[in-house]
Amino acid sequence: IDELVGEGVAGKRVFVRADLNVPLDGGTITDDGRIRAAVPTIRKLSEAGARVVAASHLGRPKGAPDPQFSLAPVAKRLGELLGTDVAFAADTVGESARGTVEAGSDGSVTLLENLRFNAGETSKDDAERGAFADELAALADLYVGDGFGAVHRKHASVYDLPARLPHAAGGLIATEVGVLKKLTEDVRRPYAVVLGGAKVSDKLGVIDHLLEKADRILIGGGMAYTFLKAQGHEVGSSLLQEDQVPVVQGYLERAEKLGVEFVLPVDVLAAESFPDLKTKAPAAPRTVAVDAIPAELMGLDVGPRTQELYAAKLADAATVFWNGPMGVFEHPDYAEGTRAVAKGLLDSDAFTVVGGGDSAAAVRLLGFDENAFGHISTGGGASLEYLEGKTLPGLAALEDS
Ligand code: 3PG
Repeated sequence: IDELVGEGVAGKRVFVRADLNVPLDGGTITDDGRIRAAVPTIRKLSEAGARVVAASHLGRPKGAPDPQFSLAPVAKRLGELLGTDVAFAADTVGESARGTVEAGSDGSVTLLENLRFNAGETSKDDAERGAFADELAALADLYVGDGFGAVHRKHASVYDLPARLPHAAGGLIATEVGVLKKLTEDVRRPYAVVLGGAKVSDKLGVIDHLLEKADRILIGGGMAYTFLKAQGHEVGSSLLQEDQVPVVQGYLERAEKLGVEFVLPVDVLAAESFPDLKTKAPAAPRTVAVDAIPAELMGLDVGPRTQELYAAKLADAATVFWNGPMGVFEHPDYAEGTRAVAKGLLDSDAFTVVGGGDSAAAVRLLGFDENAFGHISTGGGASLEYLEGKTLPGLAALEDS
């Protein structure tokens, strides 16, 4: 992007594909981390006199306008963070978008409505995506890819549009990729990977790839129960992906051969039902050892002995990658496991990377200073797919820039 700015962007319409996909509660943004991360690139272009046309998806609308996924609240917050007016276009490539972009002066910032209100954005059909990309291209002279969280999506604005305009990678993408390289090339050891979150199936690719690179892999969250089952434990009514048990058994065996340590919970906090996240009514969980989870209980966080164990496993690490909460951290009774991991990262001298929307939100919700971590990635799926060694469409599209 510095090169692009150096060549002069004053008066040019610059399309910035950001990832402003933030969590909303009604119309209220509950975590603005991704908007803040998008600000530096937009500001740099605007200050250089570009007419910025920012765009993003939000949520997963079905290819048609849906007010609950409107980017209007995001436009307002972006304006507050930039300290300038952000003109909001009520559509993506229609009259409002064309008119708003046309009315922009040098240094102005326009935000288009949710790109996924147009079916062409996410279409699997190359021609349909291409047609939408053509319409987007008509709104701009240059393209800057900066939505790191969406680079794993082969979508019109991520993949097809850069092929139609002179393009560059934005500062956020450059930073994110630089950090991920440190997790895959010449990694400082010991290298600990902490994985949590609900579904083990979302993490199989990354486990598969990191087994060859990590020294230890700590498992928590809902996915831990499939691991515990694979080890022969009964997991009561905890979340379980029965069909993945043999796959996980295969990983446990491979890890043993490779000398990679899998660290699994030794105790969990369990209750008869899922807690109420709205009222946050006390849940009164029981602490149970993993070899004695009663049939009627579901595990909802890692227990105190596990918290200590995980802190110890992180203490001497030189590199740590963490993705996914350890429990239902949104409820105070089940936040301690996730808090212990966040604290473990901070207490170690390691280069620490927190990846993924959920873990990043957890860190902020639990009151940690996000600047104390080595890096908090704006990409969940994107950083995982990078670590899986996959080619990411949104990065491939910018490679020649
Ligand atoms: C994310 O939240 O990981 C990105 O914004 C991508 O969103 P998606 O999974 O809906 O494509």
